[in-house]
Amino acid sequence: MHALSTIPCLPEATSTPLGAEVYRGLTRMPKRLSPWIFYDQRGSELFEAITELPEYYLTRTERAIFAERGEEILEAAGAPELAMIELGAGTAVKTDVLLEAAVRRELAVTYYPIDISESALDEAGRRIGERLPQVAVEPRLADYTRNLGVIPSPDCPRLVLYIGSSIGNFEPAEAAALLRDLRRRLAPGDLLLLGVDHVKERGTLLRAYNDAAGVTAEFNRNALCRINRELDAKFRPGLFQHRAVWNERESRIEMHLESLIGQEVPIRALGLTASFRRGESIHTENSYKFTPEAAAELLKRCDFAPQASWSDARGWFGVYLAEAA
Ligand code: AVI
Repeated sequence: MHALSTIPCLPEATSTPLGAEVYRGLTRMPKRLSPWIFYDQRGSELFEAITELPEYYLTRTERAIFAERGEEILEAAGAPELAMIELGAGTAVKTDVLLEAAVRRELAVTYYPIDISESALDEAGRRIGERLPQVAVEPRLADYTRNLGVIPSPDCPRLVLYIGSSIGNFEPAEAAALLRDLRRRLAPGDLLLLGVDHVKERGTLLRAYNDAAGVTAEFNRNALCRINRELDAKFRPGLFQHRAVWNERESRIEMHLESLIGQEVPIRALGLTASFRRGESIHTENSYKFTPEAAAELLKRCDFAPQASWSDARGWFGVYLAEAA
């Protein structure tokens, strides 16, 4: 018999990114899923809704910092001509504020939004084209977490925007690897603007991830809806409870989906049945929170020299400008 025929065959779906992630995550203990699974069409809409919630202070606080300090931030960037490159730009609504500040300062700006969503990039391009015709927009359709090679190399200094606390959804080693990779692709003198959520009082953090209207709970359960649809699974999302936990030792908010009963869930495309005990949870997201010292430390470890930082009056959110050293 040919040796290869003795190798047990896994279903084809286990070799797609989603299939591989779900297979790996639900056959290990404790069970885990990566947060990128949230972001199908519905998940992206739910995340947009989260950014408008009264409890979710992150987006509006960072936007307010840009609105109040945008010109100062661009002055610190210090170049009359600038390539502004945004990782995971989405529809770039927050970035408008910075682009407006650049136009007020009469900087020659080319804006390169990078995102995996074509519709988000189209919307960003259309809106900026209408509102700020002075800004040239060069969208790049790509997943920056897998390929930073899409970062352009124009003949002018680059300012990379990595805002919105996105860095907080990576494990510390992954966050450092991403920033080091970014640094290797930049030239000395290029700049990074990093937006991070600060450590703060536990109640404020918990409310931001467990809102009264239940939007974050729906966002969390949407991972199961996506797995049902794309992997022919039979999760009943209502039998999983959303839980947000502040893990002080690790300085992170954790999101979990806790099984309300003992249950077996077939995931047909993977040829797998996931068993859950009552109370067992799937850990779906970490959102790391930083002290100003930890943020500066992370930048230095990745060969970025912190230059300046801005925060709101309560010190809830921080925006850090650092130079490729
Ligand atoms: C995208 N990211 C920065 C959000 C966060 O706050 O970690 C994702 C999110 N998860 C629950 N609410 C928002």
